Amino acid sequence: MAVPEVPEPTISWDRESGGIRFIDQTLLPERCEVVSCGTVERLIHGISRLEVRGAPALGVAGGMGVALAAVKSRATMRDAFLREVEKAAAGIAATRPTAVNLSWGVNRVLARVREAPDPAEARRIAVEEAVAMAEEDRATCMRIGDNGIELVPDGATILTHCNAGALACTEWGTALGVVRSAARAGRRVTVIACETRPLFQGARLTAWELSRDGIDVTVIADGSAAFLMRRGEISLVLVGADRITRDAVFNKIGTYMHAVCARHHGIPFYVAAPRSTLDPGSGEEGVIIEERERNEVSRCGGRTLVPDEARVRNLAFDATPLSLVSAIITEDGVLRPPYHLGGEKPV
Ligand code: MRU
Repeated sequence: MAVPEVPEPTISWDRESGGIRFIDQTLLPERCEVVSCGTVERLIHGISRLEVRGAPALGVAGGMGVALAAVKSRATMRDAFLREVEKAAAGIAATRPTAVNLSWGVNRVLARVREAPDPAEARRIAVEEAVAMAEEDRATCMRIGDNGIELVPDGATILTHCNAGALACTEWGTALGVVRSAARAGRRVTVIACETRPLFQGARLTAWELSRDGIDVTVIADGSAAFLMRRGEISLVLVGADRITRDAVFNKIGTYMHAVCARHHGIPFYVAAPRSTLDPGSGEEGVIIEERERNEVSRCGGRTLVPDEARVRNLAFDATPLSLVSAIITEDGVLRPPYHLGGEKPV
């Protein structure tokens, strides 16, 4: 199969139509199509289906969703306008509860909307703020990438899980941003992408975007990771994050398994994330883990894999204690244990 071209950033504001454009990630790697999204309902649908996904991209989607609600509102009175935008904002933020960036992006643009003296000014400010978020996201990822280079030795084989790449952000990526920056700096790198069941973000998305960049990538079944570590075939583990509380890193289900195995085999386990993913005011126990529908696990490729009589649990994320994390790479530098994320006690 020929590797398709990426037509544009993962998510962007379309000034012509006054709406959002995003790559529909459910179609990759077979097709790369862009959705023109003109309503909040369509955006919520796209976020729930994971057409647009990944923590930083969700942050931008949240901000742009509030801008969309503001632009589409016909209210002329400030109070009615605010009620409408706030209702839309709450609906967007509730779509996926674990990734803190979604509510962070929603709240950032909503705060600007609330400051505006009238609906017309609010619409203008909301769009500018949302567009600025997308631009900042790109710059932030580039800084994360550059800060992470020091952790990637020449010749490294890097195991990653899910997709923390350009498709999970506006461009470049967090964990894959580090891979890209290291490759650009001349390091020879090989990536082992865990397929990431049940929705295969590793196989479909990570392998797709790295192949396009000419970065060596091999997809493995998730269950192969521990054995490859035991055989000395993995130099380091590098993943993204959906939320980092004062005590744990929340990321795609399966991440904790890699962290435990990495510690057992003396392999560094790194997390790359923007500061907008930090949530030091929360602890692991207070975070809702998204549980998704049965069909994502019980069916695949048009076939039923699980008998109707059996129950299915489809947890979308897990939590890895910070004690298993060797370093957190942010846009402001590399954090090492004990972590001072702003919570009460260093972990
Ligand atoms: O369910 P998804 O595909 O949105 O989950 C995404 C992840 O778990 C990513 O690893 C995380 O958002 C970091 S993206 C830079």
